[in-house]
Amino acid sequence: MAALRLGDTAPNFTAKTTEGEIMFHEWLGDKWGVLFSHPADFTPVCTTELGMVSKLKDEFDKRNVKVIGLSVDPLDSHMKWINDINETQNTIMNFPMIADDNRYVSSLYDMIHPNADNSFTVRSVFVVGPDKKIKLTLTYPASTGRDFFEILRAIDSLQLTSNYSVATPVNWKDGDDCIIVNSISNEEAVKKFPKGFKEVKPYLRVTPQPNK
Ligand code: BEZ
Repeated sequence: MAALRLGDTAPNFTAKTTEGEIMFHEWLGDKWGVLFSHPADFTPVCTTELGMVSKLKDEFDKRNVKVIGLSVDPLDSHMKWINDINETQNTIMNFPMIADDNRYVSSLYDMIHPNADNSFTVRSVFVVGPDKKIKLTLTYPASTGRDFFEILRAIDSLQLTSNYSVATPVNWKDGDDCIIVNSISNEEAVKKFPKGFKEVKPYLRVTPQPNK
């Protein structure tokens, strides 16, 4: 199966999770989603990642985002591991983890990269919009823990583009100026961006962040 690309519909699936069986699209409802895989249960980097995602629950909620993890270990293993995550990361796991022991979802999303490891998933991230389209993907190797603050930052950018027709420049942080997308004419920009904009070049127009 060809790899999933930005703009593709996130494949739907039914899966066992630590919070019961879900149908992915139904579970997402009209919210944004983050589906992320981690290589295996009872491993150190994954333990820290899952603890951090739990701690960031309010930040995902604020952005109308539902989060779901996945590994190819079975449900009873996930359930036991959650006790360790809670204990060592000082949290209470508050989002579901898919038990993909038949590798259905990981195959559907191409999360197993045999030249990296034949048995475990790599660290994949799929950000899915309310239209169920894939908006962003990331692939990290097992040995590199992800920066979930970066994932939140990228979601802020995606949501600004979706709601206000702006893009975000290099190293953008919440509150910084944004870039008006090129499909908006100057005439439209005058109406759409009441705080004004600066035309540095005809293709580079900068405006204060619209929702601040
Ligand atoms: C980890 O989460 O620590 C890990 C998992 C698989 C391979 C290497 C590290």
